[in-house]
Amino acid sequence: MKCTFYGHSTFLLKTESHSLLFDPFISQNPLASHIDIDSINPDYILISHAHGDHCADVELIAKKSGSTIIANVEIVNYFADKGIEGFAMNSGGSHEFPFGKLTMTHAYHSSSFPDGTYGGNPNGFVIHSGDTCMFYSGDTALTSDFALLGERYAIDLVILPIGNVFTMDYVDAERACMMLKAKKCMGVHFDTFPPIKIDHEIVQAYMNLKGQDFFLPKIGEEFKL
Ligand code: NI
Ligand code: MN
Repeated sequence: MKCTFYGHSTFLLKTESHSLLFDPFISQNPLASHIDIDSINPDYILISHAHGDHCADVELIAKKSGSTIIANVEIVNYFADKGIEGFAMNSGGSHEFPFGKLTMTHAYHSSSFPDGTYGGNPNGFVIHSGDTCMFYSGDTALTSDFALLGERYAIDLVILPIGNVFTMDYVDAERACMMLKAKKCMGVHFDTFPPIKIDHEIVQAYMNLKGQDFFLPKIGEEFKL
């Protein structure tokens, strides 16, 4: 698997056969102005919850690429009304997709669209593709659920929000990594807005001190899993 970070909580996962875009928020993110949105043509778009900073570019990208969205029932219904194809799931459910097995987890957050439409419960995703397992928690607080996921899955990479204020901070993200027993951890949901600006050196030093294989991706950076 390969992964490219596009800023905030947006990233593209490339499996052997498919490309999966998570939480597209590019055109409204000033930090991602150098990203060419037209070059992003995913097979699937996975949406963790309905907040604008996670689905602002869903319609644009899905329509030009013919992507299928994967999200909870409320979000899939919302985009179905705009003519976008989707596969609806809910917390705890798994499904075998052409790219591998996906399990939807529960996130501790809220979820409504910018126009006020109810967006269902917020989610995260565990993905098994080839011999790699990755987990993206979505926007969430720290929860003991992570220990259960760590017991069941051998997670190679976990992607966690660390920006504080709207989600957990880096200290709780470290505790999440511990419970998940993840081999590698990537931080997202930082720096985009003034309240979630972080000191990269302090965060990285803390993770190093705790022995976590942790990194903060650069916008536009591609790396191998
Ligand atoms: Ni949110
Ligand atoms: Mn968010």
